[in-house]
Amino acid sequence: MSDSPKREHWGSKIGFILAAAGSAVGLGNMWKFPYLAGENGGAAFVLVYLGCIIILGLPIMIAEIVIGRHTEKDPVGAFKIIGTGPWTLVGYLGVASGFFIMTYYSVVGGWTIGYLVKSVSGALCSISGSADAEQLFESFIGSPSEMVFYHFLFIGATVFIVILGVAKGIERFSMVLMPLLFILLIILIIRGLTLPGALDGLRFYLRPDFSKITTKVVIEALGQCFFSLSLGMGAMITYGSYLNKKDKILNSSLKIVGLDTLAAFLAGMAIFPAVFAVGMTPKMGPGLTFNILPVVFSRMPYGAVFAAMFFLLLFIAALTSSMSLVQVVVAYFTDEKGFSRTKSVLTAGGLIFLLGIPAALSFGVMKDVKIFLGNTYFDFMDMLTSIYMLPIGGFLIAICLGFKYGLHNTMHELDPDTNSFYLKEIWAFTIKYISPVILLAIVLYFGVYKMIVG
Ligand code: TRP
Repeated sequence: MSDSPKREHWGSKIGFILAAAGSAVGLGNMWKFPYLAGENGGAAFVLVYLGCIIILGLPIMIAEIVIGRHTEKDPVGAFKIIGTGPWTLVGYLGVASGFFIMTYYSVVGGWTIGYLVKSVSGALCSISGSADAEQLFESFIGSPSEMVFYHFLFIGATVFIVILGVAKGIERFSMVLMPLLFILLIILIIRGLTLPGALDGLRFYLRPDFSKITTKVVIEALGQCFFSLSLGMGAMITYGSYLNKKDKILNSSLKIVGLDTLAAFLAGMAIFPAVFAVGMTPKMGPGLTFNILPVVFSRMPYGAVFAAMFFLLLFIAALTSSMSLVQVVVAYFTDEKGFSRTKSVLTAGGLIFLLGIPAALSFGVMKDVKIFLGNTYFDFMDMLTSIYMLPIGGFLIAICLGFKYGLHNTMHELDPDTNSFYLKEIWAFTIKYISPVILLAIVLYFGVYKMIVG
């Protein structure tokens, strides 16, 4: 991402939306959202999550894209312009977040490759029920060699794409493939809903019990909102920096946020009815998706074929997300350290691989190694990034744009969108006063008060 005088632009408007939606839709939707909802009271979590998306996610998405297009820079460069001085640190915080997220993201990315292999080899569909599926998963994630190997493969695939610069090709490719993922999800939903006992799952997922809304639910939903939308670390600043001046930011943001939310919602619809139908517990943690889907596939005609397709598509969705995470780290090495592109990608990939090894081992040999407040390394990296770094990043982005740089300097970015004064003013008010105040309140309450007082 060099700063050539004439900034490269996306080939088309849809190119930008696809790249941004490609970054947003990933393991966060299919893997993380269902298990977080399962652990945090189902529909209660879904409701709070939707609230976070509207009040925080959408406005901050718009803000990041506005900053990117306005400065035409990577996050560090952008903050040198809109923040100057210590504000540049926000850019570095973003680079660090991308790096930390990748250390565990690629482990789960590796699971998708492993499950693809198991679907093709037939191991996945020969299971007879939920106990079998759980055992398969446990022994898979407990195996150090398999975990490190697939973690390596996933980073290798990401590095390969980023070095060759075929990211644009992948984006094109996923334009065809992502609708297929949605279609497969719908097939899974139909199968799940027609299993006896599925209605309990639907109730769990869609009928909120307000007494279940606790601080933990709120903070987890907030973290997931940032994670799922790829916000709070400058990924959308980077993507916005290639956006054409005449493209509409409000409109594109709405589409990206809508697609991402739809993907997460459908994933939950595919999983919860089945969980209840086969008598599993929704509180299974990170294994939920990988435990339940094989059971659903095993009860479908041509299940093995559907399973292979599904995990292949999930792998591709994960790749379009990991590309954007690695991209931020790579941009740092090329722009700030003057490394060549290849050297940057290999350095980033190598470091992520090494720092990801303890995450890969967190479900097996390092299961009992607790880093912080009883978390494994994997959980710690997840918590550190989703619950702290991304929301704090989002808070700083909003404050810097709203108060340091001044919204009036960037409001013209929204001109192509609408001549509705009110729409722009609503966004301006939200990003200046509502989003930062809510973010600060939640982070302070949970992160500081709860941590100390308990
Ligand atoms: N949003 C992606 C997912 O849901 C993960 C991701 C990609 C991400 N880029 C990001 C998360 C930047 C936070 C910040 O799988």
